[in-house]
Amino acid sequence: MTQATATKVPTLPDAQTVTQVEHYTDRLFSFRCTRPATLRFRSGEFVMIGLMGDPDPKTGKQKPLLRAYSIASPSWDEELEFYSIKVPDGPLTSRLQHITPGDQIILRPKPVGTLVHDALLPGKRIWFFATGTGFAPFASLLREPQTYEDYDEIIITHTCREAGELTYGRNIIESLKEDELLNEVIGDGFWKKIKYYPTTTREQSDKMGRITDLMRSGEVYSDLGVDPLRPETDRAMICGNLAFNLELKDMLEEYGLEEGANSKPAQYVVEKAFLD
Ligand code: A2P
Repeated sequence: MTQATATKVPTLPDAQTVTQVEHYTDRLFSFRCTRPATLRFRSGEFVMIGLMGDPDPKTGKQKPLLRAYSIASPSWDEELEFYSIKVPDGPLTSRLQHITPGDQIILRPKPVGTLVHDALLPGKRIWFFATGTGFAPFASLLREPQTYEDYDEIIITHTCREAGELTYGRNIIESLKEDELLNEVIGDGFWKKIKYYPTTTREQSDKMGRITDLMRSGEVYSDLGVDPLRPETDRAMICGNLAFNLELKDMLEEYGLEEGANSKPAQYVVEKAFLD
């Protein structure tokens, strides 16, 4: 490890302690850390997190190396959770992937983002469209009681290259059945409102194909036994790689949905999954 290890930041005011780390594939891991007592956020928002960078060769000074990360835990959780890609030569994730419980990370407690319920008009059904680590904000929103209070039906699609990359999302969906808070606040069987649609594109799985193609062919609707999106009833949130976001955005516009924002709620919102 270089000098810029996770343990070299305890003097920073924004340091938080890692409490748990889980690795899924050689490209993906998640971790939990302590939550600043003053941090309030809306499920679906992101914050800047990171580690100290290498010392400047001339001055010897270290600067924080920060990236935007969606908070994957819900707003009520006493800890924070993040879901991350590992980029072998990525300035931050090549180091972040080595954190272990007890290490410290830097967290700037200024949450922002558009994947929030406030940016959508009321509707009956909500679609969460994710690729890769774009699942993170939905891991938060799926554990947020408001999601079930606001909508009769929640459809979450997750497209990844390989089957192992679906594990984090699948674990979250499975864990909902046992979620004490949601069972208490929303009631027994709230999870029956969820339709989960995982697909892979480069490795065999139960459902192959990009979600965009499966929507065009109508397969997703027949598989799930639901009607195609309509602006009157459907709301959507998109989070994935840039090409996916742009393509799906165009498709949603063709369905007649309009893009919303915090300042002007409408029918869908979009955010890039932040990569190294
Ligand atoms: P594909 O394997 O066909 O490129 P990545 O890991 O590169 O971010 O990709 C995550 C997933 O998003 C992959 O399954 C990839 O499919 C899919 N994907 C990439 N671009 C698009 C797009 N424009 N529309 C739909 N899915 C996409």
